[in-house]
Amino acid sequence: MSFWQTLRKPFFAMAPMADVTDVAFRALVAARGKPDVFWTEFVSADGLYHTREIAKMKDEENPLVRDLGKNAAERPIVAQIFSAKPEMIAYATKLVAELGFDGVDINMGCPDRAIERQGCGAAMLKTPDLAREIIRAAKEASDLPVSVKTRVGYNKESLDEWLAALLEEKPAAITLHLRTRKEMSLVPADWSLMKKAVEIRDRVNPGTLLIGNGDVQDLDDARAKAAEYGSDGVMLGRAMFGNPWVFAGKRSEEIALAEKLDALVELAYEFEKLSPPKNFAILKKHIKAFVTGFSGAAELRMKLMTEAESAAELEAIIRTESK
Ligand SMILES: Cc1cc2nc3c(=O)[nH]c(=O)nc-3n(C[C@H](O)[C@H](O)[C@H](O)COP(=O)(O)O)c2cc1C
Repeated sequence: MSFWQTLRKPFFAMAPMADVTDVAFRALVAARGKPDVFWTEFVSADGLYHTREIAKMKDEENPLVRDLGKNAAERPIVAQIFSAKPEMIAYATKLVAELGFDGVDINMGCPDRAIERQGCGAAMLKTPDLAREIIRAAKEASDLPVSVKTRVGYNKESLDEWLAALLEEKPAAITLHLRTRKEMSLVPADWSLMKKAVEIRDRVNPGTLLIGNGDVQDLDDARAKAAEYGSDGVMLGRAMFGNPWVFAGKRSEEIALAEKLDALVELAYEFEKLSPPKNFAILKKHIKAFVTGFSGAAELRMKLMTEAESAAELEAIIRTESK
């Protein structure tokens, strides 16, 4: 039995987000309100193969090793990978299993052109037979439960064909970002489509869990959406920005400024410990999200963005400016 079957419903999941849901940010969230399922950032399966097998990358340089973290509170955790090659998916899935993750998730929704050019991410919506082969390859490679994160269509909603094709392969769970590829994130997510998705799921493979995603503001909103549209789980992404308390049911405006700034400082120190390291500039999106909505926020934000190049500098500026 996989962890998916043990979750109470509705369950709430952390969205995989590149340069956001790394070990540092996940530790922050785990300490303030755990989601029912953690997700890593996405990782290229081809990239893993080439860097490990050909460039002989050391394990400690492996982004998945970095992404696994050492935090027992971050469980269950699903590693997200992508590739258009079944053999690469099989390779990466075995690695994900060896490293001790609880599940493997395949990205079939990313609209980034560089990803799509490789036939991956949202481009997978155009090749349902290959998508099915990819799921099969992942399932055969290990005992880990396999899930998929995708969108409702490419240019237009095509759940009848696309979702049904994925369900035929009996993945443990499917996350539906309730927009098409063409819509990117420009229009509101269409949660009413979740009802249709549930009908298709009930018909084709009732055993697959459905997770809804897109524009969920907080936990109350997540509960309301699950109740109204019938998804088994809800995934929250941008709602975590500046609010690692979101899974404890807190709204950003309920959190004291000092607590937010302390969280940012803690994040910066954890971020600096990442191995292999990441550029400190990546923290800017967190600075923007945490330092907002209070008098003097714009000035402090600007100072941090332009002057802080390390956690210690960030802390020094915050302690001086917010006295
Ligand atoms: C900065 C950023 C990075 C993202 N990285 C990923 C990723 O690595 N894998 C993935 O499946 N989706 C990724 N997404 C999409 C989110 O997981 C989610 O589907 C999207 O943000 C909509 O949910 P939300 O409205 O709750 O944020 C990313 C989104 C953002 C904003």
